Amino acid sequence: MSTEQTVKKQLDSSMWRMSVAPMMDWTDKHCRHFHRLLSQHTLLYTEMVTTGALVHGDVARHLRFEAEEHPVALQLGGSEPADLAHSARLGEQWGYDEINLNCGCPSERVQRGAFGACLMNEAALVADCVKAMADVVSVPVTVKHRIGIDKIESYDFVRDFVGTVADAGCQVFVVHARNAWLKGLSPKENREIPPLRYEVVAQLKRDFPGLTIAVNGGIKTDDEVQQQLKQVDGVMVGREAYHNPWWISSWDALYYQDESRERTREDIEEQMVLYMEREASEHGTHWYSIARHMLGLRNGLAGARRWRQVWSDHRLKTLPPHEVMKLARTKPNEIQQEPAEQML
Ligand SMILES: Cc1cc2nc3c(=O)[nH]c(=O)nc-3n(C[C@H](O)[C@H](O)[C@H](O)COP(=O)(O)O)c2cc1C
Repeated sequence: MSTEQTVKKQLDSSMWRMSVAPMMDWTDKHCRHFHRLLSQHTLLYTEMVTTGALVHGDVARHLRFEAEEHPVALQLGGSEPADLAHSARLGEQWGYDEINLNCGCPSERVQRGAFGACLMNEAALVADCVKAMADVVSVPVTVKHRIGIDKIESYDFVRDFVGTVADAGCQVFVVHARNAWLKGLSPKENREIPPLRYEVVAQLKRDFPGLTIAVNGGIKTDDEVQQQLKQVDGVMVGREAYHNPWWISSWDALYYQDESRERTREDIEEQMVLYMEREASEHGTHWYSIARHMLGLRNGLAGARRWRQVWSDHRLKTLPPHEVMKLARTKPNEIQQEPAEQML
């Protein structure tokens, strides 16, 4: 690798302070547009895109995104250095701020493709993949991984993995703080059953103080985020951010000292309606496939259930989105339907 490339990759680890996790079928471009309205600074990850999809498929369909989504990281799934290099180069050309390699997904399909979490057993191959990508792009190449495979709970295993991959040029690791059990658990169970061991991630940061280490897994409150930020550089939040997106709207002030934007949930909803109209006219996207990502926006407020029901009612698909918003904001039925929530 040339010195020039190394200089280009000088990192500011604050870029990883807060991020929303890559989630298949969830963090598509519409979801990321929504999350970006909630926070200017949080790093957003795409769903995993396989190298196969980029080498043989419709590149624009997988990589298209709007300029306002930045900073945004493309997550790749694959294990062929040449294909990953090709895909990383495409990612950089399309404007992504980071290329992330998935070494944490335990699904059977991904295992058949010999990538995802099973790559943790092949640190030398991951190092080759990282090097192949880092050689052809100037944006950071990062890795998301677990703390172990199956029942191996030895710290040395994950420490050696990180050490080997770091030597190949990866300076940022996002660590899902549980093992991946490759046999017998569904991907969903693999996000819940293997125990969380945050101390392993904190130990990685102590052993590799020069690397940027972000922790992921089971983090749901500001107290937990603040606790983690005392030990590591960043926190990645997945399910809680998706289900309770309004939480994201406090992050700019709390974690980036940026209080410049005052927004209400209604402002966000209105901006989403404008986006739905634009997407429909420019790309033929139906509002329904955009609205599904914002259904948690009013969680915790009176009338949240009715609002969610309106935005997810397929019988309303023929209406334009501003009409749906009007309906969602109409209150009369709430009193009958949701006396309990009215009391809140
Ligand atoms: C629906 C769903 C899809 C996911 N897809 C991916 C993926 O494509 N790539 C990946 O690295 N992790 C994926 N994950 C795992 C998350 O990135 C994250 O590691 C996990 O949910 C733990 O974080 P959390 O407890 O904050 O949700 C997915 C999780 C969910 C719930």
